[in-house]
Amino acid sequence: MKIDRYAKIWMWMGAVMVAIFLGVMIAITTAHAIHPPSHVETIDPTKVWDDARFAEPGVTVGDNKAEVRLISQMYAFLPAEIEVPSNVPVTFRVTSVDVIHGFQIVGTNANATVVPGYVSQFTITFPHDGEYLIVCNEFCGIGHHGMYGKVIVGKPQAEAEAVAALNQEVAP
Ligand code: CUA
Repeated sequence: MKIDRYAKIWMWMGAVMVAIFLGVMIAITTAHAIHPPSHVETIDPTKVWDDARFAEPGVTVGDNKAEVRLISQMYAFLPAEIEVPSNVPVTFRVTSVDVIHGFQIVGTNANATVVPGYVSQFTITFPHDGEYLIVCNEFCGIGHHGMYGKVIVGKPQAEAEAVAALNQEVAP
């Protein structure tokens, strides 16, 4: 079969493009741990407060891991401030009781959409101790800009500094 030279060039260009796109997908999933949504767990948004899974929002620290349960609502994350241990995988479980919110932990690759009726779940190990800002990055209404929270990883900065200063004083 005779294939025209230009047709061959176009076919090779198509094949190269497919290879590049696949390569980009493999690169971002391996190097940057960016994953498509894969966790589908439903919840009745009108009964979140009575649901056993979210009856006690906050942090549970287990053996070398931690779980955080957070409820999003206009215009706050509950609880708004959480403390997790350093160097352990932290699994976040977040849901909404009203509209769609965003859940982004600034300075990390944690970025999930929180949709009423679903539980968004992801696991991350924080790169270093300190305070991380959580922002809602999905426009959810008039108070959207004021919807934020905080994760404190390891010893809170102020406390660590106070201890360091105290040690300096005591040292001969
Ligand atoms: Cu919640 Cu924007």
